[in-house]
Amino acid sequence: MATIIDGKAISMQIKDECKEKVAKLKSEGKSVALAVIQVGEDPASSVYVNNKKKACEYIGAESLSYHLPEETSEEELLELIDKLNKDEKVNGILVQLPVPKHINEDLIIRSIDPDKDVDGFHPINVGRLSIGEKGFVSCTPAGIIELLKRSGVEIAGKECVVIGRSNIVGKPMSMLMLRENATVTICHSRTKDLKEVTKRADILIVAIGKPKMIDASYVKEGAVVIDVGIHRPDPDSKKLCGDVDYDSVEPVASLITPVPGGVGPMTIAMLMSNLVNG
Ligand code: GUN
Repeated sequence: MATIIDGKAISMQIKDECKEKVAKLKSEGKSVALAVIQVGEDPASSVYVNNKKKACEYIGAESLSYHLPEETSEEELLELIDKLNKDEKVNGILVQLPVPKHINEDLIIRSIDPDKDVDGFHPINVGRLSIGEKGFVSCTPAGIIELLKRSGVEIAGKECVVIGRSNIVGKPMSMLMLRENATVTICHSRTKDLKEVTKRADILIVAIGKPKMIDASYVKEGAVVIDVGIHRPDPDSKKLCGDVDYDSVEPVASLITPVPGGVGPMTIAMLMSNLVNG
């Protein structure tokens, strides 16, 4: 039987630490503000943005909300970002993705001042991570490192297998595990014998985007299993699942993250941590 990694509790701990830090900064006369930009009406984005604003409120930081219409031009968005880059009162800038199709996402990410890029998506911050320099790190992988450390998982010297190579999760995750001195393997859709590789993992991080794809046959006895996926397999039910078949893997793993309540809550907690500690 695996020990469940409680992402909800660990994310609360981190938000409480951020709250203390904001109070300390305020006592020194310094304020903390996050600019949150949403373009259009994507319902999932509205939920995320709302949760980010609520988290700011919880830790005592200011959130500056910019909800722009779907037809906003790329130029108008760039002008707003430029204004926020120059505003000394703004510590962090976040453009909720995806942006509408007529706007070039890469250009928008690159227009944010790297020192206000609390998402850690700017190529300068990606480069900083890859050469071991201080900078903003993508929130979900940063959150997974916190889950492992705060659950007492030793990372150095361990075999870590990451499934998925996205710019937001898989790649930065691999760099972070390398920074923690793990031996890292990245798997993806063209990996030849996925099971043969994942069976080697002491720490298996699954960010594959396919509901319940990883069952016990992919997992070594006693492995730590981190599930980044979040899916609603039945649109008529609120029930969520991850990329890992939890019921199959739980008896084999030593530690495991549930869905919901594992990796999910860590993303916003680390956004707050980036905002406050960046
Ligand atoms: N859309 C989905 N996840 C994210 C995220 O972490 N940051 C931003 N900016 N947009 C997202």
